[in-house]
Amino acid sequence: MNLIYSVILCLFFKTSSCQLKCVKETLYDHDFFINVTTHFKAETGDCIRIPYKLMIPTNKVTAPYRKIWFKGDPQNAENTIVVNTVESEMKDTYSTGGLPPGEYEYGFKLEWECNQTYIFPMRVRISVSALTQKPYVYVPALEEGRGVRLQCRADRLCSSRAQVSWKKTTAGGQSILQDVNEDFYNREIGRYRGMYMLNYIPTADDHNINITCLADYGYTVAETTVTLNVKFSPKILNSSQCMTDGKLVVCVCNSRGNPLAPITWPLASLTDFSVTSSSSILTVSSTITMPAAADYHNTSVKCISSNEMGQAEIDIPLQDNSKNFPTDLYGGKQTFNTTTPWIIVGVSFSLNLLLLILIISIYRRDKQTQMKVCEETDTYASLRKADVEQEYSVISPQPR
Ligand SMILES: *[C@@H]1O[C@H](CO)[C@@H](O)[C@H](O)[C@H]1NC(C)=O
Ligand SMILES: *[C@@H]1O[C@H](CO)[C@@H](O)[C@H](O)[C@H]1NC(C)=O
Ligand SMILES: *[C@@H]1O[C@H](CO)[C@@H](O)[C@H](O)[C@H]1NC(C)=O
Ligand SMILES: *[C@@H]1O[C@H](CO)[C@@H](O)[C@H](O)[C@H]1NC(C)=O
Repeated sequence: MNLIYSVILCLFFKTSSCQLKCVKETLYDHDFFINVTTHFKAETGDCIRIPYKLMIPTNKVTAPYRKIWFKGDPQNAENTIVVNTVESEMKDTYSTGGLPPGEYEYGFKLEWECNQTYIFPMRVRISVSALTQKPYVYVPALEEGRGVRLQCRADRLCSSRAQVSWKKTTAGGQSILQDVNEDFYNREIGRYRGMYMLNYIPTADDHNINITCLADYGYTVAETTVTLNVKFSPKILNSSQCMTDGKLVVCVCNSRGNPLAPITWPLASLTDFSVTSSSSILTVSSTITMPAAADYHNTSVKCISSNEMGQAEIDIPLQDNSKNFPTDLYGGKQTFNTTTPWIIVGVSFSLNLLLLILIISIYRRDKQTQMKVCEETDTYASLRKADVEQEYSVISPQPR
């Protein structure tokens, strides 16, 4: 009964102090007007600013009222602003947060007392393309065993800061790296710098692995991958070996190092020997051939491999073994048929030597003293040509 009385009173007096104001107005589209750009193009992570101008009928919309931007469906409010005074005309700007790539449609509506709502018929379309910005990764010079800090700078996107993590990819798989320093607040610029550090001690095995910095912004992930170049001292591979049949000694020494570690054979007193060498990405292989009985009576041959990071040496024991012969420079062994006569191997080496002596003397005649070395298809030869000429050319045997 009380409710009916108050409704009658309200209708009768139509005063603003009336307690029950739920009188729904009839709304016409021509009373409402919004001026806004209806298509925006942006990149993931951009803040999209939508400026608009609004005109509303002051006799129908009452304060307080709400200005609501919604995404897609009118129920799906993205942003609500409460306005306490009704003005017939106003300007404002709506800013979206960062959006993942895609097509979006935004709409605008007004709500005021008694659940009264006006939904503007226009829609704002936003086309968002993929993120092009990537984190910036800095890697200092790397040497095995020396701790360094890798840096990753992941800038803010719109208002979001990145969650940064590091990942390591080796031939064996992926793993997350833990020793990460958080971003820190920079007082001078008054904000977080977006700089993340990773403490890392590289090993020789880390050469050529990939490290990735991942910046997760919640709605999109950006990443940058770098391949590590770790310098390490040479390691002589245990495929190195020496073989003798009593007449010839043939030794193979293989070493791995970054940068490439040239191999030398310190055979000071010997003059009658030949050396050939080859190299692949990080491995150097050197083969020395010399007559056995005449000069060489030691039971092992020393092989030295060195680069700017250090030196490795090994005494390779002589194996008197006519069954095994190093045919593969990278350490593979091939078993000769026992009926294969050793003499063929010896003759073949002698012939090779003779051929090389011949080639060298022709070259000498043509090019005076400068000896031309056949360059191998590797960086080693081209980078260290001086060394190659000195150490890896074939030295002609002196007549004894
Ligand atoms: C407004 O609508 C909601 C549901 O849509 C309802 O619960 C509420 O009572 C309504 N308020 C008025 C004043 O009509
Ligand atoms: C590292 O990245 C490079 C180029 O992105 C790729 O070619 C290589 O296979 C990767 N290495 C590993 C171990 O994943
Ligand atoms: C030498 O080779 C053997 C078998 O091929 C291997 O088990 C061993 O670990 C190697 N040693 C070194 C020092 O590389
Ligand atoms: C043989 O070994 C001795 C000592 O081990 C060394 O002094 C000598 O130079 C070696 N001879 C050759 C030809 O390397």
